[in-house]
Amino acid sequence: MKSPKKYGVIRRLLAIGAVTLAAVSLQPLSAHAAPAPVVGGTRAAQGEFPFMVRLSMGCGGALYTKSIVLTAAHCVNGSGSNTSITATAGVVDLQSSSAVKVKSTKVLQAPGYNGKGKDWALIKLARPIELPTLKIATNTAYNNGDFTVAGWGATREGGGQQRYLLKATVPFVDDATCQRAYGSDLVPGDEICAGFVTQGGVDTCQGDSGGPMFRKDDTGAYLQVGIVSWGQGCAEPGYPGVYSEVSTFAADIARAAAGL
Ligand code: ARG
Repeated sequence: MKSPKKYGVIRRLLAIGAVTLAAVSLQPLSAHAAPAPVVGGTRAAQGEFPFMVRLSMGCGGALYTKSIVLTAAHCVNGSGSNTSITATAGVVDLQSSSAVKVKSTKVLQAPGYNGKGKDWALIKLARPIELPTLKIATNTAYNNGDFTVAGWGATREGGGQQRYLLKATVPFVDDATCQRAYGSDLVPGDEICAGFVTQGGVDTCQGDSGGPMFRKDDTGAYLQVGIVSWGQGCAEPGYPGVYSEVSTFAADIARAAAGL
């Protein structure tokens, strides 16, 4: 749930001012549809992303196996026995009476995680959830193109968490472009960026962390290429979202899951 504040108040005020001016000068607010999800998203259909999980600490996740959720390291406190997390699955509406709720038994935070890169973790569930899992990318072949992101997080910086699952599409951003935004804060081997760099407006946001960024592979199956990790604010022009690069960690994740 952390939100790294990497830049000064002044550049932030300038950015907000610029966005406000642009919005005011272009058209009246009434001409805009209500903002949706994630930032700039729309509602996901029931069953559209059956592997999506909401975690009780306020993060997202995806079913890696029926009894293991892949999420972000910064969503958990460390590794070991842990029965304090509830995973909610099977519904877009978190208040639905058909929600499947299962407690955690163990957490494995990425070995060596220290807040810079390596932002992945596994949560073992008390029982399997009978829903489709999400395959993870094991090489870089799909680290390009347009990605889907989804979550119950805020729809704007500082906004509240959502009852209904929201989704959005964000394009791949190469490391060089992303480094122009984030400099040495970016760990290019561990992180993959996505977003509309020039315009902003669509992004994940607080509470989406740990959730998957995914796309279809050549067989038409969904494949997870990222884990929601961090960004400067949400959907700000010039600042793409930063995601854990799943292909980098695929072997570590598989090994860790086998031992959980
Ligand atoms: N760290 C945030 C969380 O814990 C996710 C932030 C994603 N930010 C972004 N601009 N894409 O929920």
